[in-house]
Amino acid sequence: MLCMILTHTLTIAQQKPQINSPEFFGVRTGKHFFYAIPINGSRPMAIEAKNLPKGVNYDKKKGIISGSIAEKGKYRIEITASNKNGLAKKYFTIAAGDQLALTPPMGWSSWYSYGRKAKEADILKTAQLMKKYGLDQYGWSILEIDDPWTNQPDDKDPVWKQLNNKLNKDVYQYHEGPNNLPDRKGILRDGNGELLPNQHYKNIEQTVKQIHELGFKVGIYSSPGPLTCGGVAGSYGHELQDAQYFAKVGFDYLKYDWCSYGVYAKDNSEEELMKPYLLMGNALKEQPRDIIFSLCQYGMGDVWKWGHKTGGQLWRTGDDVRDNWASVYAAFKKLADKSEYVQPGRWNDPDILQIGAVGAESREGNSNHLTKEEQRTVMSMWCLLSAPLFIGANVEHIDPFTLSLLTNNEVIAVDQDALGKAANLKLTLDNKVEVWTKELYDGRIAIGLLNATDTAQNFDFQFSSIGADSSYYARDLWYKKNLGKQLKSLPCKIPPHGILLITLKKLQK
Ligand code: GLA
Repeated sequence: MLCMILTHTLTIAQQKPQINSPEFFGVRTGKHFFYAIPINGSRPMAIEAKNLPKGVNYDKKKGIISGSIAEKGKYRIEITASNKNGLAKKYFTIAAGDQLALTPPMGWSSWYSYGRKAKEADILKTAQLMKKYGLDQYGWSILEIDDPWTNQPDDKDPVWKQLNNKLNKDVYQYHEGPNNLPDRKGILRDGNGELLPNQHYKNIEQTVKQIHELGFKVGIYSSPGPLTCGGVAGSYGHELQDAQYFAKVGFDYLKYDWCSYGVYAKDNSEEELMKPYLLMGNALKEQPRDIIFSLCQYGMGDVWKWGHKTGGQLWRTGDDVRDNWASVYAAFKKLADKSEYVQPGRWNDPDILQIGAVGAESREGNSNHLTKEEQRTVMSMWCLLSAPLFIGANVEHIDPFTLSLLTNNEVIAVDQDALGKAANLKLTLDNKVEVWTKELYDGRIAIGLLNATDTAQNFDFQFSSIGADSSYYARDLWYKKNLGKQLKSLPCKIPPHGILLITLKKLQK
């Protein structure tokens, strides 16, 4: 395997620069932000950024743009990158206003890779490995520290009693404990009420700094209830103080779960479901740095209709996804008719990518029960749906196949497309192949032909079946291969649970 990873690295060494930043990047006026320009290709590479607005600097050595923009507006920056194999140039627009995450956030989460055993050293090691494998060069930019990084109260603590006495069957209130995490028992907050990291995150400020130095952003996790799902301290009653703490430590992203808040929600009304998110959303907006807000309440009350009103940029649309076909298929199929709720800054989140070595909670995070074709389908469907992309894999166990799924810039570009539209399930063919289509910024259509059946499907895909009545250039995105110029149909051979991911471009008359 090492040999194959080396081959991958060698191939990269011969590439000319390719700038993978999306067209637009949103920042809030007056807030601190930073952005590491994702560019793949052989190193050394000289990267220049020109036409930077007032208040923004470019660190040439690190390839990082950072600062703060006072005036609302669109600032078009020219990026050039050159190495011994060639030169690339791209315009990149910083949109300063009140919107973040104009394209779906991309990163890695500790949840399926290390699960509850995650420690700060694992997070730092992952950042170093992501850098080593060049994942940052494709836009994988946030490392999210998931549950549990705070302390668990003693089992005599009244909070357990309170929660258990207040069981409210109508509103999801799940939490674990009181004795599930013996190595995380401790004091929840200091004398001033500030959250205390548990013994495995003692140097959290330093760790965040080191990860920032590598050019990555850092995400953190909390719950609006007094306890998180794992049963450690959440933010209930300390929302503003926690938002201030998150900003002080330097976090760039917050995943805010629901666990244990259910006992406080009076009912399932939209108002009650929105309440805790609005509180934290407003608290985050007050902070001096941009912090992306990710809602994690499993789709309750059709969150896709109102998540943005709380200040959120992304919201989980269902339960935790697992590495089996039924689970991933259900997660994306649920979004077949929800594209109208997606636009730049508003993303439906079907959960963390089940690609590579996942399953930390049950299997030490070093295997995957999905076939390779199924994992390719997961990546393709998440990109078609404009879903946030968070790597679930333990990067220590990454293999060349996983790396190939995570470093195809034509596939990732479908996810990061500036138009910000999500695919719809346009039609299901007679052979049960599903046709998912997504409009792209440059006028192309991205199409996923998904074989959800258990047998291979051979057929001719007629473009007219989706109302594409012209002649088209077709391109296979996974294989980066042109399929023909004046096409009206395409012969397809798709393995069970596999996908053909193509784009169609209309021929100019
Ligand atoms: C919930 C979330 C998961 C993860 C765990 C942590 O189950 O849905 O993504 O954050 O909590 O305990």
